[in-house]
Amino acid sequence: RKYEILYNFKKKGYHKETWNSKMINKAIILAGGMGTRMSPLTKAVNKQLLPIYDKPLIFYPLSILMLAKIKDILIIVNKGQLNQYKKILPDGKRLGINITYKEQNYPKGLPDAFLLGEKFINNKNVALILGDNFFYGQNLTSKLINCTKLKSGAKVILHKVIKPELFGVAKTSKTGKITTIKEKPKKYFSDLAITGLYFFDKKVVEYAKKLKPSLRNELEITDLLKIYLKKKKLTSDILGRGGAWLDTGSIEDFYKTSAFVSAIENRQGFKIACLEEIAFNNNWIGKKEVLEAIQFYGKCDYTNYLKKMIT
Ligand code: G1P
Repeated sequence: RKYEILYNFKKKGYHKETWNSKMINKAIILAGGMGTRMSPLTKAVNKQLLPIYDKPLIFYPLSILMLAKIKDILIIVNKGQLNQYKKILPDGKRLGINITYKEQNYPKGLPDAFLLGEKFINNKNVALILGDNFFYGQNLTSKLINCTKLKSGAKVILHKVIKPELFGVAKTSKTGKITTIKEKPKKYFSDLAITGLYFFDKKVVEYAKKLKPSLRNELEITDLLKIYLKKKKLTSDILGRGGAWLDTGSIEDFYKTSAFVSAIENRQGFKIACLEEIAFNNNWIGKKEVLEAIQFYGKCDYTNYLKKMIT
């Protein structure tokens, strides 16, 4: 990993030949939700702006999109919370990306992202990541870039978990094809959770419009995926045991994920989800923008890291 990063610093444009303009370049971060399970912390502040160790939670899913070389990003936030986001992530210029926002009146389920984002999607293929999902792992970048090569159909990332009943779950055949999917299955049939990172072709908006609310009165992402499955258009990749997909659903999860980030960062000296570092390595920004970021954040551990990066 160290070698890869040093290599990136010295030879800019390292990823250039692995990415081309035909790949998915649009993504939505769904950062709505009331965060009721974390009240009173979430009464005044959106959950995705609360800290995972040394950064707001939203940095982590955003970093995943940036590692996938996705530059056009729509963030869906709760009505009334736009100002909070604009303070920390105004429009993406500082990171060499384009960030736009859309407000959601109340959470109607994950596929609502495609209805709210129809104009943004503009008949193109699109990725979706949930604002509270945390991913980490060796070779994650090449896995992500590979997912953005999707031309038609949909692709999900699966990860083995001990409590599949808490998630959308997929069963795969011996050849790795998805055969069944279910949302929060009461009866065990597989331990492969469908993580909150999805890649869709442009038909996703049309299909999302056909969905009906479930018993919990929400549009379900698994119902959307079932449409692709029926058409034999649903594929998957596995984030194996060398990778981590962690929850940030409850206060306990926030602490556990923070401890994970702290352990890795303080051991290696590399930060996870340092947005400016990723943008710099991607050649999207130069020293000038990094210096601006240092000014913007002020004196802190995060800016010490940025200073080190450019000297
Ligand atoms: C949602 C999806 C579920 C998916 C999970 C990933 O669950 O409905 O399929 O596995 O996100 O975080 P929810 O957050 O609504 O419980």
